[in-house]
Amino acid sequence: MDQPFLMFHRPSVDHEEEQSVLETLRSGWLTTGPKTKAFERAFADYVGAPYAVGVNSCTAALHIALIAAGVQPGDEVITSPITFASTANVVVHAGAKPVFVDVEPETLNMDVSQLESAITERTRAIIPVHFAGHPCDMDPILDLANRHSLTVIEDAAHAIESAYKGRKIGSLSPMTAFSFYATKNITTGEGGMITCQDAGLAEQLAVLSLHGISKDAWKRYTAAGYQHWDIIAPGFKYNMFDLQAAIGLCQLGKVERFWERRKQISQFYDQAFGEMEEIRILSCKPYARSAYHLYTLQIQPERAGLNRDEMLDALQQRGIGVGVHFRAVHLHPYYRETFGFRRGMFPIAERASDQILSIPLYPAMTDEDAQRVVTVVKAIVKH
Ligand SMILES: Cc1ncc(COP(=O)(O)O)c(C=O)c1O
Repeated sequence: MDQPFLMFHRPSVDHEEEQSVLETLRSGWLTTGPKTKAFERAFADYVGAPYAVGVNSCTAALHIALIAAGVQPGDEVITSPITFASTANVVVHAGAKPVFVDVEPETLNMDVSQLESAITERTRAIIPVHFAGHPCDMDPILDLANRHSLTVIEDAAHAIESAYKGRKIGSLSPMTAFSFYATKNITTGEGGMITCQDAGLAEQLAVLSLHGISKDAWKRYTAAGYQHWDIIAPGFKYNMFDLQAAIGLCQLGKVERFWERRKQISQFYDQAFGEMEEIRILSCKPYARSAYHLYTLQIQPERAGLNRDEMLDALQQRGIGVGVHFRAVHLHPYYRETFGFRRGMFPIAERASDQILSIPLYPAMTDEDAQRVVTVVKAIVKH
């Protein structure tokens, strides 16, 4: 019997989010306002950071974090090649040059042993990316940054629930950027958040996220009454608005429950795929609490008898949704042509780039769905 296609991701939203959005719609206040402020407070408390600023994407969060860090044309910013487009694109938006270091094979996170040799006198910031929700080795990164006066901006798009040595991601670095995109661990459809440790920086980020206009500009149409505002920086239109926050507040209440379910499914996959020589899986370091955002299979073509792209096609033909997170950024045409990156520069990332794919991992999946993924993967490999 034909089974319905198993989507790569399906968000878990229900009547609670519907009700919250309806209430907000009926409240008469749709844009940045009390719901956004409440979501910022609740999110900061969840990750153990003193301040959080809501924005309309993680991309926006990373961009204004770079501006707030003082990154300027001619500067360099170090990050990982195994990431989404925006981590590198925002560096270019800030006028700076992205510099990559290779990744470690077990986690596909930045290999910190290679970091120091990538630092030059132009380096201004480091963006560690917590790939698939597994935290990077933050102590050496923060230590190096400290010694070289660099700002660390964490890309925690995958890492809302992650912790490093018992400390939550979002509470460690000067700035950490999160995503609430539709496929993320919690979602507002589109949305993002920056956490930071300093009141002045939080204020600066809030100003940058709303046209660069002065403090609490979002209140200008409230009962508090109209007040003149000043432009104090050439800011952006990146603010989070209350309809997003209305969803985010409900999602945040479920974040640990969602995490538990993804952890269960990940462990089930680990058992199923851990012993297979045709496939490599990633591992979890002793210092890490993973957010289990993605489940990555690294196809070993010489053993599996097919390559990653053939595996992608075969899975989709058999009704399983897949993704690729990620093809290495430095190999994309813009980055090759603009900065001269070439294959051979970051061999571990390049091998991963050619071999990895992501299989479904989300709380709305049933045990039968997870079993079906395992059965189909094994059947393809055995044939
Ligand atoms: C590692 C990483 N960084 C940044 C982003 C950008 O997030 P957003 O879509 O919220 O801008 C993503 C989104 O997929 C991501 O995976």
